[in-house]
Amino acid sequence: MNEYSATADRKREHIELCTGDNVRFTAKTAGFERYSFVHNALPELNFDEISVDTDFLGKKLQMPLLISCMTGGCGEAERINAQLAEAAERCGVAIGVGSQRQALENGIYHGSFAIVRRNAPSVPIIGNIGGDSLTGGKLPDVDVLVRLIDADAIAVHLNPLQELLQPEGNPRYRGVLDGIVRLVRESPVPVIVKEVGAGLSRGAGRRLLEAGVAALDCAGAGGTSWAGVEILRHGETLRKQEQNSLDYFWNWGIPTAECIRGLAPLKNEYGFTLIGSGGITNGVEAATALALGADITAAARPFLQAVSAGGSELLVNTIRQWQLDIRRIMFLTGAKTPTALCSSLICAG
Ligand SMILES: Cc1cc2nc3c(=O)[nH]c(=O)nc-3n(C[C@H](O)[C@H](O)[C@H](O)COP(=O)(O)O)c2cc1C
Repeated sequence: MNEYSATADRKREHIELCTGDNVRFTAKTAGFERYSFVHNALPELNFDEISVDTDFLGKKLQMPLLISCMTGGCGEAERINAQLAEAAERCGVAIGVGSQRQALENGIYHGSFAIVRRNAPSVPIIGNIGGDSLTGGKLPDVDVLVRLIDADAIAVHLNPLQELLQPEGNPRYRGVLDGIVRLVRESPVPVIVKEVGAGLSRGAGRRLLEAGVAALDCAGAGGTSWAGVEILRHGETLRKQEQNSLDYFWNWGIPTAECIRGLAPLKNEYGFTLIGSGGITNGVEAATALALGADITAAARPFLQAVSAGGSELLVNTIRQWQLDIRRIMFLTGAKTPTALCSSLICAG
């Protein structure tokens, strides 16, 4: 099998597995159920005045939401990205593309990335590259990736757990931070660093902010388990043989609520945007992420499932429902802006 079809095949398998529900964390939640909002019987606000407009990457969003980086680089990706992007444009939310590594190999699937900018001309679009691809002497050609989608930012994904368990993975992370420092210096657009479902700790966040990144997306544990995805891709024999330890790693990671609480205090020291994601499945959890200190919330698999079940129309309805629920919570807590939600949470233990 040649290189391009190996990458494209892997992406196809990821989409298939993530459309179902078998890849969720089984022994850990994102942690939002531990918090509830303090009801304010005197909000001194009119519901129709409540706006969730948010600035992100120099553009205006209609709500603080990002459709997380997912796909591109295989045949199926074009239709999915077309629908995700159409919904992003209609709802005025940001969108990321999946790893663009394949686009550097050849131009066969460039259309699966370019469709995102075509269908979402006005919203922020985020490119994507793996941390492990920054470790060589020469950085990948980021200009090509940015031009392909007229990107407003480029996200580096850190996925050491996935690389460790992926049959064809590359768990070589020495030099990733240096690569990020160089990328920040050379990239024509701001650099975002994200996890993919195991979370960013405060310590990792601080080192990345020292490197000069513009935003952190914690992508914590409790939603899609990328260890789970790779374990399901392993052969049946290996799965049986390694049953106990694989179950442990399936649930590895820092729950999203804890990631956000750990990273938010860094905003007092560094200017950056905190994106709260990982296991956010509805507007109430999105509002809780904002209340814990995220500036923007994001989700991946729930939105993939929506377009798989009902195309861009169902995704638009889903996002509008999230927006309505965030606004309802703002009204009931007396929060004039999404940021003001921060003073309205109690921890139920
Ligand atoms: C089908 C699929 C493909 C993904 N591919 C990428 C990718 O290429 N690059 C990346 O940074 N994250 C990728 N992710 C991870 C998501 O961006 C997100 O961080 C993670 O799934 C946790 O969010 P969730 O719990 O809302 O799914 C992918 C997620 C899904 C569901």
